[in-house]
Amino acid sequence: MSLRDVRIVATGASLPEERITNADLERMVDTNDEWIHTRTGIRERRRLAPDQPVSDLASRAALQALEEAGIAPGEVDLIVGATFTNDLAFPGVACLVQRDIGAARAVAFDTNAVCSGFLYAVIQAAQFLQTGAYTTALVVAAEGLTRYVDYTDRNSCILFGDGASAVLLQSEERPAGETALRSSADGRPGLIDFDLATDGARVNVAFCPRPTAPAQWLRTLSDREEVTPWIWQDGRAMFKAAINGMADSVQRIMTRQNLQAADIAALVPHQANLRIITAVGERVGIPEERVALCLEEYGNTSAASMGIALDKWRRLGRVRAGDLLMFTAFAGGLTWGSMLFRA
Ligand SMILES: CC(C)(COP(=O)(O)OP(=O)(O)OC[C@H]1O[C@@H](n2cnc3c(N)ncnc32)[C@H](O)[C@@H]1OP(=O)(O)O)[C@@H](O)C(=O)NCCC(=O)NCCS
Repeated sequence: MSLRDVRIVATGASLPEERITNADLERMVDTNDEWIHTRTGIRERRRLAPDQPVSDLASRAALQALEEAGIAPGEVDLIVGATFTNDLAFPGVACLVQRDIGAARAVAFDTNAVCSGFLYAVIQAAQFLQTGAYTTALVVAAEGLTRYVDYTDRNSCILFGDGASAVLLQSEERPAGETALRSSADGRPGLIDFDLATDGARVNVAFCPRPTAPAQWLRTLSDREEVTPWIWQDGRAMFKAAINGMADSVQRIMTRQNLQAADIAALVPHQANLRIITAVGERVGIPEERVALCLEEYGNTSAASMGIALDKWRRLGRVRAGDLLMFTAFAGGLTWGSMLFRA
C-alpha cells in the first residue's frame, strides 16, 4: 500500500478573556507569586465565563485554522477532538464543533489522552490521512480545566487554565517509489515520525474522577480519605516521570532519524511546568530560545497547550519552511510521546 504525506496546513487558538493571576490565587490559598513563578514559570491563566461551553472555545480555534487555510468547513472530512473536560459526557466535543462550524460532511469523535491529547489526536488523524481514507482533518484540543480544579488545593490550583487550539492537516501524494516509513533526510514537509507510550499501571499518579465513580474503588487509586471529583496528582512523581518520559521519547526519534539537537529548529512541548520543559531541553540539547512556550501567560491547558504554543510560535514568525519541529507531551494515564514534523 502506498501511503500519503500529512502536512500541518494551518493552526488556530482561542483563549477566554478572564485572567486568574498569581495575585488572585494568593487571595484563595496560602501561596505567593514568587513561589508559583519560580517553581512553575506561570504568571497567569485564563478562565471560561460561567456560561461559555468548552465547545465554543474549540469551534473558535477550529474556524481560525480554517480561515487561515482558506478552506470551507464543508471541505473537512474528519474532526478529532482532544479533551477530558467537555461539558457533556457524550457526545464528544468534536460533534459539537462539527455542528457549530457547519462541517456537516465530517466524521467527528473524541480521543482522551489528557495532556498528551493533542499528540495522540494528531497521530490518530494522520493515520486516516496517510492511508488516503480522508484528505482534510481538523484536530481540535480544548479544555475547561478550571471547572475541575479544587481551589483549596495549592498544589494543583496554581497550574491549570482554560484554552483551545486547532490544527488543520491535509494529505498529499508522495513521490513515486517512496516507501512507507519516512525519513527526515527526505527533506519533504509533513509528519516524519512518532513515538507513543502508555503505562496504565501508574494511573494513580494523576487522575480526575467523575462524580459518579464508585467511592470504594476510587480509594484503590489514592490513600486520601475522600476522593473528590477534582484533578488529583502526585506532583513530584509526575514531575520526574514527565522529564524522563519526554526526554527519552524525543531521544528515540532523534536516534532513529539520525538527528542532532542542532537539526531541530524548535521543541514544542506540553506546557506543564517550565522546570520540566527546561530539564527536557537540557537532556536533549535544545536551548530555551528554540522552545515554543506559552506557559507563563496561560498555565497548563492540558490537551490544548501544545497547539496553543505552536500557534503562537507560528504567529511570532518563528516557523520557516523546512524547519524540523519536535513535539513532546506527558500526561496522566500515564500517556506520553513525541512526534516530528517538517514545516
Ligand atoms: C506541583 C509542582 C509545581 C510542585 O512543585 P515542587 O517543586 O515539586 O514542590 P513540592 O511538591 O516538592 O513542594 C515543596 C513545598 O512547597 C509547598 N507548596 C506546594 N504548593 C505550593 C504553593 N502553591 N505555594 C506555596 N507553597 C507550596 C509544599 O507544601 C512543600 O512544602 P514543605 O516542603 O513544607 O512540605 C511540581 O511538582 C509539578 O509541576 N509537578 C508536575 C505537575 C504536572 O505536570 N501535572 C500535570 C498533569 S495532571
